[in-house]
Amino acid sequence: MWMSSRAADVPGSVFALMDAAKSRARARGLDVIDLSIGSSDQSPPKAVLEALRQATRDPLTYRYPLFSDTAPLREAAAAYLLRRFGVRADPETEVLPLIGAQEGLAHLLLAVTDPGDTLLLPDPGYPPYLGAAAVAGLRTVPLPLRPKCGFLPDLKAVPDEVQPRALVLNYPNNPTSAVADAAFFTEATAWCRARGTLLIHDHPYAELTFGDYRAPSALEAGQGGVVELHSLSKTHHMGGFRVGFAAGDAGAIAALARVKGAVDFHPYLGIQRAAALALGLPDEVGRAGAAVFQARRDALIPALRGLGWEVHWPQASMYAWAQVPGLTDSVAYAVRAAEESGVVVSPGRAFGARGEGFVRFALVQPPEVLVAAAQRLAGVAVRGKISSGT
Ligand SMILES: Cc1ncc(COP(=O)(O)O)c(C=O)c1O
Repeated sequence: MWMSSRAADVPGSVFALMDAAKSRARARGLDVIDLSIGSSDQSPPKAVLEALRQATRDPLTYRYPLFSDTAPLREAAAAYLLRRFGVRADPETEVLPLIGAQEGLAHLLLAVTDPGDTLLLPDPGYPPYLGAAAVAGLRTVPLPLRPKCGFLPDLKAVPDEVQPRALVLNYPNNPTSAVADAAFFTEATAWCRARGTLLIHDHPYAELTFGDYRAPSALEAGQGGVVELHSLSKTHHMGGFRVGFAAGDAGAIAALARVKGAVDFHPYLGIQRAAALALGLPDEVGRAGAAVFQARRDALIPALRGLGWEVHWPQASMYAWAQVPGLTDSVAYAVRAAEESGVVVSPGRAFGARGEGFVRFALVQPPEVLVAAAQRLAGVAVRGKISSGT
């Protein structure tokens, strides 16, 4: 009775189904290996935790943070963008703290679109994009990410009659772990600018890159008509802190600040101080964190390929995206895999129609556990009934 149509339009989550399957596996006494959620199992850098600890003892941090109080974090974000990508953003007008990239996207859509506008979304893509679009009353058009194109969209194939108000991209990508180079962003920004489309680049995996690979910023192609969402959740293992920042087009950032002013305050000042410190840490700190995920990739991918699954070799992110031969119902498979083997993965279908046939592994366990998970999955039939009858 109290459900608005916009709330009703928010799609249900397959992850609730997986959570139930996980509980059943535990009830059966199975030792569960949960690789379903991309939440870093690493700790934030010690100095970051110390900054937060100290801030909790400072009474100045107890009050509501005003915009002027966010200056140190905005300045740290601008310095990070310059150091890391050579991007110059004005901390006054082109940077805004967020309570995470997910919050930022939902409010940005409310800030820059009107109900009925068209939003281009990657398929497969991070599931909350659809929920945020539903809340904003948007018509979504899926943008296929195909394996043969390296999971990059073919923007030229978008029909002329599709006039998107905004396009969401995300590289390094969740769930496919694909990466995009600077030339791709140059093309994508030109395509968007020619249509009056805002390019929203969701960039939470910016520092989770392996070997010599470094992910570019979409802002390297200029700030006009581009907003990039950064997060400390993965790069600094601060997912529970809920902090990130938006940077880019001054008009879109001003609109976002207006909407956020109506619905929330800025993050707790102690968290802002911790985040500002994290953004200023030497690059080696981020490299060390990324190396942990790289070692996991090195262990898991060969084990999955040993099962006869097709998995590309990720250069970044914290996922393995595996195409399973013969798989036609990834949700049923993932539930059965959890119930029979205790290995919990995300079904590809949860990320969109084009995710069918795939499963996603989050690299959130040590290498030997990932290999053990792959070995257990060898005993799970790709097709079959779900024993619980779910
Ligand atoms: C593509 C993508 N965007 C956003 C988020 C959420 O980021 P945050 O914790 O900053 O809200 C995630 C988390 O998994 C993600 O994969």
